[in-house]
Amino acid sequence: MDKPRKNLYILFIFIIFLLCGCKFNKTKEVFLNLGYSNKEIKEIDKYLKKSDINYLSNHNYVENITEFIRYSIFDINNLDRYIAYRNKYYELDFYHIILYVNMNLDKDFYSDVKTITNPYDKLVLVNKYNKLPDDYSPNDLVLIDKRCSVKDDVYIRKEASKHLIDMCMDMISLNLDMKVISGYRNYDYQKTLYDEYVKKDGEYAAIKYSARPRFSEHETGLSIDVMGNNKNYTKFNETPEYRYILNNAHNYGFIIRYDNEFVTGYINEAWHLRYVGIKNAKKIKNDNITLDEYVYMNK
Ligand code: DAL
Ligand code: ZN
Repeated sequence: MDKPRKNLYILFIFIIFLLCGCKFNKTKEVFLNLGYSNKEIKEIDKYLKKSDINYLSNHNYVENITEFIRYSIFDINNLDRYIAYRNKYYELDFYHIILYVNMNLDKDFYSDVKTITNPYDKLVLVNKYNKLPDDYSPNDLVLIDKRCSVKDDVYIRKEASKHLIDMCMDMISLNLDMKVISGYRNYDYQKTLYDEYVKKDGEYAAIKYSARPRFSEHETGLSIDVMGNNKNYTKFNETPEYRYILNNAHNYGFIIRYDNEFVTGYINEAWHLRYVGIKNAKKIKNDNITLDEYVYMNK
């Protein structure tokens, strides 16, 4: 580059720099007027993108803003919901306030439902906010080996079945007797079950242990219910088979899916296992979290 051209180039960069500086100084003034400290403004500038800064500059002062914005899962569109949730659950740390609101836990179950777009994914999240598409039915179901099942017509998806058989055979070699009592369910079957439970116990109780049709993981073909040597699945947690599952299922890609009622909306179900793949299952187990949290932590 020749010298005059180089000087012109430097001048141009300098002007851009000045303009940006002026713009930020103007924004800084707005934030100071809103009540933010210089330290807070520095962090706002560091963590938020331009559009978020703009949003925040049109919002009332937010106490503890820097505690929220440092997390990559922070979503400015949920800001008012984070604030309301924090007022309700003051004991939760900021990360969990953000996570739980992102998961919609501040809304009533079934009140804001989205249709899942990745039903074939082994990490598919089916819960009280995310339902399966009406036309979903897995196309790779296989029969579960009779040695591992109480009936000869229980199906799950192929990949899950392969890992289930590995786990089941290893358990048999240790003289453990675990059998699958329920696997894939279609819409009609889940509806029959749910309606029966509602009739028997009323909706308020049934909803805590049974999923509405299209909201059941059993419809994905990735979940199973199992029983152990006491032949009573509701007391599976009292069996040696359960102890094995608790300590080893993740090595075969399975998790105990419902072990946190606050997050899942279901009472603990020691017998309900879900296939998510070995890598995911290990992380979920090691971090002692639910699938719901895992999915939203990695969104
Ligand atoms: N029992 C589980 C929640 C289901 O119905 O899918
Ligand atoms: Zn189940």
